Amino acid sequence: MITTSGLTKVYRSRGREVTALDGVDLHVREGEVYGVIGQSGAGKSSLIRCINLLERPTSGTVTVAGQDLTALAGRGPRAGRELRQARSRIGMVFQHFNLLSTRTVQDNVELPLEILGRSGRERSRKALELLDLVGLADKAKAYPAQLSGGQKQRVGIARALAGDPKVLLSDEATSALDPETTRSILQLLRDLNRQLGLTVLLITHEMDVVKSICDSAALMDSGRIVESGTVGELLATPGSELAAALFPVTGDASAEDRTVLDVTFQGEAATQPVISQLSRTYNIDISILGAAIDTVGGLQVGRMRIELPGRYEDNVVPVGFLREQGLQIDVVNANEDGPELVKEGAR
Ligand SMILES: Nc1ncnc2c1ncn2[C@@H]1O[C@H](COP(=O)(O)OP(=O)(O)OP(=O)(O)O)[C@@H](O)[C@H]1O
Ligand SMILES: [Mg+2]
Repeated sequence: MITTSGLTKVYRSRGREVTALDGVDLHVREGEVYGVIGQSGAGKSSLIRCINLLERPTSGTVTVAGQDLTALAGRGPRAGRELRQARSRIGMVFQHFNLLSTRTVQDNVELPLEILGRSGRERSRKALELLDLVGLADKAKAYPAQLSGGQKQRVGIARALAGDPKVLLSDEATSALDPETTRSILQLLRDLNRQLGLTVLLITHEMDVVKSICDSAALMDSGRIVESGTVGELLATPGSELAAALFPVTGDASAEDRTVLDVTFQGEAATQPVISQLSRTYNIDISILGAAIDTVGGLQVGRMRIELPGRYEDNVVPVGFLREQGLQIDVVNANEDGPELVKEGAR
């Protein structure tokens, strides 16, 4: 649904150049909620602004719903019209809502439809339908100043949906909201994703946001995507930074002459019988240092940190046994001449 290829953005101001995007290849599938996470300055907003061509990419291409937007940008009046039309099918939600304070809630939602030249009756019907969808049917005649932050964001979402978009882009839509309101807005985005088949690309710097509603995620750093995949894929990737942040497990991994492993399983699998089987088969004592079960992006995931006596070289066979059971194993401690070996084993 959204593809960027080699997307690059260099800002030039007063003789200085800042590379905000450095060859970004992003693939968002139809109907998924995709989270892009990264620290301040990583290029997240630049990415989203380049995707809807609010910002002109320096190079690379952006394709949304099969249409190459970069090819339309700046190619005469006809292409300009096509670009505007294509853009109206991309909804955008902002951190600070960007509502017009002199207009009622309903008139704010109608605004994009006015720009598209729809009739008064059609605008009004659509706006009321959308306000109902976001749970604000009774606020149509209110002004933004009379609403709470969460309600304002609901208006922002209703407005973003006015052009019947296939794609919703959200730049930190919840970062101005308290945790409770954040949850309800995320739930609304999830519901809209399911009910309308809407593809959602959201930008955030909060791991919890990714954890609660994303099917897929990408980690950005210095204008690049350094990791990406479905939540399931990420959790199954040894050494994944995103996986570790999405689902941290703690436990002291510093012991010498011990092998510390993180065991991850998804869905129905359970580690407990496998661990006791391992202990019996190889006659070793296994300590559990930490364990957690959680729901990440709708997936049931369990993770356990265990400790085996002996160094990694002594445990190649038991580790192989665990992998054969379909469990994902990350070797946490790499002792002395270990690192190379550990890496190899983790693959
Ligand atoms: N209009 C601009 N002119 C010049 N530099 C810019 C402009 N917009 C962004 N930048 C720079 O590009 C880099 C990426 O900025 P961007 O806003 O995309 O980051 P971000 O990941 O959204 O950060 P945050 O989490 O703080 O919102 C930063 O170094 C920023 O200073
Ligand atoms: Mg930003």
